[in-house]
Order: sequence, then structure tokens, then C-alpha cells
Amino acid sequence: MTTQFSALFPGLDNPLILKRYPDSSDANLQAWDAADEHLLKHLDESGMLPRRWLVINDSFGALTCALRARHGDTPIDFAADGRTAHLGALENLQSNSLCQQEIHFHDCSQLQSLGNDAAILMKLPKNLNFFADTLSQLSQTLRAGQQVLIGAKAKHINQSLLTLIGKNLGEANASLAWKKTRVIVVTADGKPRPLSKPNRWPVPELGLILENHSNVFAANKLDIGARLMLDNLPVGDFSQVIDLGCGNGVLGLQTARLYPNANVHFVDESAMAVASAMANWALNKLNPDLGKFHWDDCLSHLDAGISADLVLCNPPFHQGEAITDHIAWQMFNDAKRSLKPGGLLHIVGNRHLGYHVKLKRLFGNCKTIASNGKFVILQSVA
Ligand SMILES: C[S@@+](CC[C@H](N)C(=O)[O-])C[C@H]1O[C@@H](n2cnc3c(N)ncnc32)[C@H](O)[C@@H]1O
Repeated sequence: MTTQFSALFPGLDNPLILKRYPDSSDANLQAWDAADEHLLKHLDESGMLPRRWLVINDSFGALTCALRARHGDTPIDFAADGRTAHLGALENLQSNSLCQQEIHFHDCSQLQSLGNDAAILMKLPKNLNFFADTLSQLSQTLRAGQQVLIGAKAKHINQSLLTLIGKNLGEANASLAWKKTRVIVVTADGKPRPLSKPNRWPVPELGLILENHSNVFAANKLDIGARLMLDNLPVGDFSQVIDLGCGNGVLGLQTARLYPNANVHFVDESAMAVASAMANWALNKLNPDLGKFHWDDCLSHLDAGISADLVLCNPPFHQGEAITDHIAWQMFNDAKRSLKPGGLLHIVGNRHLGYHVKLKRLFGNCKTIASNGKFVILQSVA
């Protein structure tokens, strides 16, 4: 089932039809939220007509589509870390017949060269290290007095958030609440802040060194699911391995050390995760010819010629703030398609998520390899 939502945003005569990416059959999940509406209402009231827009963290292109529909071909820089945000924005622009010319797509590592002549709209991300990194990048380029509008749920705005913004970009004031959201108006003070560096930390028990960019899962210690996985990696004659949802790449890195002749493909929808996995491959002195890195939504764009004998996966159980198992489900389906006959899908999951039911349905088999009070390691054979 396709769930489409039509959104009549402030300043628009016709509604937009917006979908999440990947499309979800969960009728509770929609492609925009009240903070998007609040940002657009704020713009409507301010009558702002800039020569360029910079839109940061627009989940599925709702803001970008609305700006394009309201303001014709004013150039837009779209910056998001997530591949699904980029693909969602592209699909929603296309399905609403909005022109894509002069929309420039970026990940969030290039913000220090964007925004100087633009009106800037941002959605508050969940990860505050990533938020601070974003602001300090913007501080390199914004003029004193230039404003950034940040849309957020009112419950996420407090004095320490405003202080963090002050520390990294300039003074911040929150608007009155509307539909339980506020718009934070930040006035840049024109002073460049030091850029944040990736966090580097050792894993002595594995003899690995890891580096995480600001928006990468497990910032300074191993995830407990990943730890159980590392204690129970499969044994076999592996030559094509995929670390699906790789984060900093710890699962694939350790596998590469056990199977030094294997090609290891690291896949994540976060550009910062892929950059971290790539840095970690080099940092741990693994063979540069054998590490491959893919910024993708699951395995949607993986070269059809890659036929894996092992897929490792510690799947997410949320997308942004929405708790959902549809990404895990897509990962398992994509893994099945990419495995050669006899290849293994080896996953870790929270016990209560019931992944064994899904795997049994998909592969016709599923074995429990290990478990503890909270997590379970499951394996299916293609
Ligand atoms: C639970 S973390 C696991 C990270 C790492 N493998 C570990 O074990 O520490 C899940 C990872 O899946 C990634 N992810 C989420 N949605 C994805 C998607 N649609 N396609 C690919 N990766 C995705 C997240 O960015 C995150 O890095």
C-alpha cells in the first residue's frame, strides 16, 4: 500500500502530495511535520524573498518542494546527511512536477562553503553533536547579522540548546509555540568557530582504532548489539562480505582482519557513516584494494554483479524519530537478493523485535546463533 499525504502549506494554493522514502505502509508515518509547517508560516509572515535558499536536514524534501512551489526557480542548496533524505526529496519533487533545475544537493560535510548569500532553514536534528558541528561549519561562512531559522518541537527546546547555539553560531531566540513547535531565530555573530574533529577512540579488546564523524551511531563506545555480534562472527571461506548499515564500520573491519583476502563492502545511508568507515579502513591499515564504500539506501543501488557470501547487519529500528521496522525488513530483503546461494545473512537484533519470524518467512530458515538477556544473533542461509 502506498501512503501519500497531501499537504497544503502556508503560501501554497494547491496541496503537495508527499511520501516518505522508502515509501512506508504505516499510515501513522507522514513525510513532514508541524515544524515544517511552522517554518513555512514564519516565512510567509516575514515576507522574505532571498536570492538563494539553503535547506538543512529536510527529511523527505517537504520544505524544498514547498519553496520550489512558492518561489519558482530561486536556487536552493539542499544539505542532508541521509541518502533517504536526498532520494525522498528527488522523488517528491518529481511526483509533484516541480522543476529540479538549480537545486543543488550536498551532504553535511560541505556546509562551510554554503549559505553565505542565502536564507537558511534548518530542522533540528536529534543528535546534538551533529547539530553543533553543523552550526560551527556555518559559522565559517555566515556574515554577522545573517539569520538561520530552525524548526523544532517545543519540547526539544530549552536553555541548554539555546546556549549551545550561542556557543557555536550566535544569539538564539525561540518564537511562541504553534502546534507544539517553535521556530528558533539565530543571528550569526560573524565569528568563525573551530571546526569539530571526528571523535577517535580505541577498542583495545579488538586492537582497533575507530573514528566517528559527528552524525555516526555509537560515538565513543561499542553498541551492545555490535559487541554480541563481534563475539559471534560466523566462520567460513568468505570472499565478498557486505556490512549493511555499517556505521563506523566496526563489524566489517573486524571481519576483514579475520578474512584478509575478502572484499568488504560498507553500506550506510549516512554520508558521515560511510566517510567514517572509509577513514577507519585506512586508520587500521587494511588493504586499500579490498575496502569498498557505498552511500545508499540499503542495497538499492548495489552493483548487480556483486554476489555476497556474507551479509552482516545490525539494523536500525527507527527512522528519524519514528520507531519502525520497515528499514530492517528492507535490509533483509535486499540482503537476500545480494547473497549467492548458500550465502549467510548474520544479524543482531533486540529480542522483542521478533526478527526471526521475518527471516523464517523470507529465507525459509533461521537459526539462533547466540543470545543474551536483551539481544539475539540470528542467521539465515540463502
Ligand atoms: C544500529 S546502527 C549499526 C551501526 C554499526 N553496524 C554497528 O553495529 O555499530 C544502524 C545503521 O544503519 C544505518 N541505516 C539506517 N537506515 C539505513 C538505510 N535505509 N540504508 C542503509 N543504512 C541505514 C544507520 O545510519 C546506522 O549507521
